[in-house]
Amino acid sequence: MCGIVGYVGYRSVVDILLDGLEQLEYRGYDSSGIAVKCENDIKVYKAIGKLNNLREELKSHVSEFSKSTMGIGHIRWATHGAPTVLNAHPHTCNHGDLVLVHNGIIENYKELRERLEKRGCVFKSQTDTEVAAHLIADKYNETGDLTEAVRLATKEIEGAYALCVMHNDHRTTIVATKRNAPLLVGLGDGEYLIASDVPAIIKYTKKAMYLTDNQIVTVTPNSIKLINQEGVEVPQKIEMLPWEPVALSKMGYKHFMLKEIHEQPDVIRNILVGKLHTAAEPVILNEVKLTKDTLKKLNRIQIIACGTSLHAAMVGKYLIETFCGISVDVEASSEYIYRQTVTDEHTLVIGVSQSGETADTLTAIKQAKSKGSHILIITNRPDSSMAREADSLLSVNAGIEVSVAATKSYIAQLMAFYLLSLYMAEIKESTDLSIIQSIKNELMLLPQKIEQVLSNTDEIQKCARKYSGTKDFIYIARGINLPTALEGALKLKEISYINATGYAAGELKHGPIAMLDESMPVLSILMKGIVYEKLLSNSEEAKARNARMIALTNSNDPKLDELFDCIIRVPEVQEFLSPILAVIPLQLIAYYIAEFLGKDVDQPRNLAKSVTVE
Ligand code: G6P
Repeated sequence: MCGIVGYVGYRSVVDILLDGLEQLEYRGYDSSGIAVKCENDIKVYKAIGKLNNLREELKSHVSEFSKSTMGIGHIRWATHGAPTVLNAHPHTCNHGDLVLVHNGIIENYKELRERLEKRGCVFKSQTDTEVAAHLIADKYNETGDLTEAVRLATKEIEGAYALCVMHNDHRTTIVATKRNAPLLVGLGDGEYLIASDVPAIIKYTKKAMYLTDNQIVTVTPNSIKLINQEGVEVPQKIEMLPWEPVALSKMGYKHFMLKEIHEQPDVIRNILVGKLHTAAEPVILNEVKLTKDTLKKLNRIQIIACGTSLHAAMVGKYLIETFCGISVDVEASSEYIYRQTVTDEHTLVIGVSQSGETADTLTAIKQAKSKGSHILIITNRPDSSMAREADSLLSVNAGIEVSVAATKSYIAQLMAFYLLSLYMAEIKESTDLSIIQSIKNELMLLPQKIEQVLSNTDEIQKCARKYSGTKDFIYIARGINLPTALEGALKLKEISYINATGYAAGELKHGPIAMLDESMPVLSILMKGIVYEKLLSNSEEAKARNARMIALTNSNDPKLDELFDCIIRVPEVQEFLSPILAVIPLQLIAYYIAEFLGKDVDQPRNLAKSVTVE
C-alpha cells in the first residue's frame, strides 16, 4: 500500500528519500516518485514499476538535485487510476509550485474536482489525490500560509489521508497531516523525517512523534509545530521508538518469505517467554486487562480480522469455544463495519492484525470501542494505530515481516490464541486440567517439530514441482484445520496466482466435487483426531473422480499409500495443535511453486502488506 517519506535537514535528500522508500517497499507498490526542492523550483521525478526504475530515471538528473536538502517521496499502490507515470505521486497544482504525496482515499474527490475545475484547475491524472494538490494550492493563494492552507483544505476533504506537502515559496518547510492513515515524524538534530512507517526513519533517529487524526505538523530543519484542525497548538507526544535499525537482510535465503518461514521455531520460543514456564504453572498473560471476574462472566466474543489474520481468528474461535465454552463469532472486518452488529460493553472484541494498520480492522475496532466493548488487539506491531486503540494489547513479537505473504506472523497469532484460550480456561476452570497440561507440554515441543519439517523439504519440493503447472488447486480439511486449508490456498493464490480454494471437506459433495477430474490436485489435511476417518472418506470420494491426490498427514496408515499420489508427513502432534504444524508444509508448497514459476515471491503483483484503505 502507498508509503510516504519526507525530509528536511542538511543531508543530501534524494539518498534519504530513496532509502526511506526502499524500507517501505515491503508494503507493496506499483510506481514511485519524489519531489525535491531545487535552486529555483521543485523538481518531480517518477517511474512505474520497481524503485530501481526511479533510480535509473534519476541518474541523468543528478546535477539538478545534488545540493538539495528537502523533499518528499512516495510509493504508490494504485486505487484510483492505473499505475502510470501520470498517476504516480507526487502530484502538483497547475503551476507546479505546490507538490504533495498522499496515502489513503479521498472519498469526495469527484465533487472537489468538479468545483476546482470550474475555478480553472487543470487535472493531469485520474487520481483522487490530485484534488488535494489543487485544493491546498487554492487555499495557499488565499492565505499565503502553507500550514493554514493545509488546515483549511483538509476540513473539506472526506475520507482517509496522510499528506506531506511542500511549496516552492518555502525552501525549508514541510507540512504534513493525517486522518485514518498512519504517519509519524522522526526528530533529528537539525533535521526532521516524516514517514508512513518506522523502518523509513529508524536509521536516522529513534526519537519520534506519531500524529493523531487531524493534527497538522510543520517542520523546518530547526523547528517543529503541531496544531489541531482548529488551528490551536497542541502538545507534542515525543517518544523513543523501541526499534533497532535492522538491515532488512535475507540472511542468505533466496527470499524473505523463505527466511521468515524458517524463523518460525524461534517465533514460538519468543512468544512463550514469560508466559508459559512449565505445564504445571498457569499461563501468565498480564497483557489481558480484563478482571478475572469479568472473564469468568464473559459469554460473548467477537474476533475481527482480514486475510491471513482472519484464518488465525478462525482457529482462535475453535480453541476458545472448546476450552472456555464462550460463544465466539469471527468476522471479516470489511463485513463487520457495514451492518448492525450486536456489540456492547459485555462483549470482548478481539482485533487480529499483523500490521496493526489494516483500515477495515481499524475502523471495526473503533466502532466496537464506541459501543463500550473491551478491545483486545493481537498484533505484531505494538507501535501501530490498532495498538493505540487497545484496552489489552497482546504483542506477538515475531519481528518485522517483510514478505507480503504472511507466514511467521500467522504462527505468532496462532500462538497468541493458544495462550489466550488456555489462560481463560484456567481462570474459568472450564477444561480439565490434564487436557490443559498436555497442550502446554506440546506447545513447548512445537519449535523442534517445526525444525524437523524444515530440515527435510525434499518431498514438499517434489510435490511442488509436480503440481506447479496446474491452473487450479483444492485444499480440503475439517474442524480445527479448515482455517489451515483456507490459509494454504490463500498462500498459493497470493504468490503463484494459481486459482486455489480451501473447502470444508464435507461440503465438497455439495458443489465443488463437480469440478474434479484428472487435472485437479486435491490436497487433504489429514491430521489424526476426531475428523480423520471422515476426511479419509471425503478423500476417497475425490479419488473416485480421478483427482490428483495429495495428503498432508501425521499418520502412517498404510491405506494412504493407495489413495494418494504424494504424501507429505509432519511429526506426531495432537489434533488441537495440528494447525501449527500443518501450515508449515503448505507455506512451503506455495513458496516452491511460486519459485519454480519464477514469480516475484516477496512482492506479488497487486498485493500490499499493509492495506491502509478500506
Ligand atoms: C494484506 C496482506 C495479507 C494480510 C492482510 C491483513 O492483504 O497482504 O498478508 O493477511 O492484509 O493484514 P493484517 O496486517 O491486518 O494482518
